Amino acid sequence: MPEADDSPADKQFFVDVPQRAEPFFLKGCEHLDWGLKNRLASIFNPVSGRTVMLAFDHGYFQGPTTGLERVDVSIVPLLPWADTLMLTRGILRSVIPPTYRGGLVLRASGGPSILKELSNEEIALSIEDAVRLNAAALAVQVFVGGEHETKSIHNLTRLVDQGQRHGVAVLAVTAVGRELVRDAKYMRLATRICAELGATYVKTYYVDDGFDTVTAACPVPIVIAGGKKLPEREALELAASAVAQGAAGVDMGRNIFQAASPAAMLQAVRAVVHEGANAGEAHELYRQLAARP
Ligand code: R5P
Repeated sequence: MPEADDSPADKQFFVDVPQRAEPFFLKGCEHLDWGLKNRLASIFNPVSGRTVMLAFDHGYFQGPTTGLERVDVSIVPLLPWADTLMLTRGILRSVIPPTYRGGLVLRASGGPSILKELSNEEIALSIEDAVRLNAAALAVQVFVGGEHETKSIHNLTRLVDQGQRHGVAVLAVTAVGRELVRDAKYMRLATRICAELGATYVKTYYVDDGFDTVTAACPVPIVIAGGKKLPEREALELAASAVAQGAAGVDMGRNIFQAASPAAMLQAVRAVVHEGANAGEAHELYRQLAARP
């Protein structure tokens, strides 16, 4: 039996104190529901407002990518430094320890392999399985200007409907076909379309000229893909330039798991994204960590 609660003199109602309501820390996300915000807080660090997502979903269309031949060997040791994992449900269930406590972004579109037209994707994950796996977000490829543009956008909007129903975020990944120009004009078009159609946040490529206009024109957070492998210093410059121009972090794969020292690279990227280190400072950190036995 609980004790009788009959001493009103001891109660403190703070009648003169207005109830606190902290603003949510992510751009464009203030009006989302509690569960969705809570999931986003598992992807983005509420202190820095940014994220370091470790992307290793490449196998969903290109098989055992260099550096991902054995995810248990190359990626699992990196988990302590990742805010969030971006991966397929197959790798999650088969390789990732369920004791992992960071955010999970599950690949939710797929179909064609590198042998076919990549924009011809379908939704490849049910919302029920995503919730069963504790996904914080679903990732869907959007091919603005691609052969199957409308179909990929329809994949996005269907996942947004399902995600809203269950409080799961949707990450729209802007995929740029080889025939398209990767410039700020294209990135503004693609990211804005994704946000207007309901994406919770958007992943895109960094562009040298005018990236700040891409982040400004997108009403929800943007994270950048790392892209093909660069020398470590250049990859750190890319991350530093992106966050300085409004990116809410990175979703980086090859530039981490194909680095000479992936663990050192992931920590150096964290220094840029969360601590505001410049590329030179982060590269020095990389060199020191990589030199450790
Ligand atoms: C590609 O479509 C995948 O979604 C990757 O997750 C994405 O490209 C990020 O990886 P990377 O930094 O290697 O480009």
